[in-house]
Amino acid sequence: MVCIRKATLADVPEITACYLVCSPGEDPDAFLSYFNDSMLSPVRVVFAAEYDGHIVGYVLAKIFEEEEDEEEDAAEEEDIQGYIEYLGVHPTYRKLGIATKLMNAAQNALVQEYGFEYVYLHVRPSNHAAISLYTKLLGYKFGDTAAEFYYDGEDAYLMRKQLPGKQTDHLVLEFSHGGGCFRGAGHTGKYVRHNYNVSNG
Ligand SMILES: CC(C)(COP(=O)(O)OP(=O)(O)OC[C@H]1O[C@@H](n2cnc3c(N)ncnc32)[C@H](O)[C@@H]1OP(=O)(O)O)[C@@H](O)C(=O)NCCC(=O)NCCS
Repeated sequence: MVCIRKATLADVPEITACYLVCSPGEDPDAFLSYFNDSMLSPVRVVFAAEYDGHIVGYVLAKIFEEEEDEEEDAAEEEDIQGYIEYLGVHPTYRKLGIATKLMNAAQNALVQEYGFEYVYLHVRPSNHAAISLYTKLLGYKFGDTAAEFYYDGEDAYLMRKQLPGKQTDHLVLEFSHGGGCFRGAGHTGKYVRHNYNVSNG
């Protein structure tokens, strides 16, 4: 039985181990440190998927930050939004709906705890599984492409979903799921905010 719950500091080593399976080649120490800090941060939301007492999946969401030198031309309420940094499920437990459940939990928390209206994420164009999850199941829309977003030079699609808290569409009544990924643990902690032109791609 899979249990989706808020992660704690005690989960960090197992989450890190799961992350390293999902994202081979990343720096374990950097991620361990980042996840430890995240557990103590009031602007992070971390959920874990537990199966038979072991962590088999994780999601980490945070506030979407702007570059410090970027013009502040967006409406104030649009400046603080949810951003999915990390999502992963251990290969043995994939295709069981765990990522969907994790993202439901994270997005629910972004609405209930922060009142966010939108959640964003970046995804590799080559990550067909994640893109299918985001578009077909979770209702994300494509935005701009961020050139060479990832450390290996791959571009990223910026995707956005309107959270149900402020939606007026009566068809969207339950919390949806999202997902995203991130440059890696060795990042600066800042994200470039891209002009967001929603398409139905
Ligand atoms: C992407 C990932 C999180 C999906 O986790 P999961 O628990 O298997 O996802 P779910 O079981 O909730 O799948 C939901 C939907 O995702 C899509 N999906 C998941 N795995 C897929 C695959 N291998 N191929 C195509 N679509 C896939 C499908 O649309 C699926 O719906 P369906 O089962 O009705 O076809 C997982 O494959 C993973 O951890 N990948 C490595 C890390 C990663 O890419 N994270 C996202 C970074 S942006």
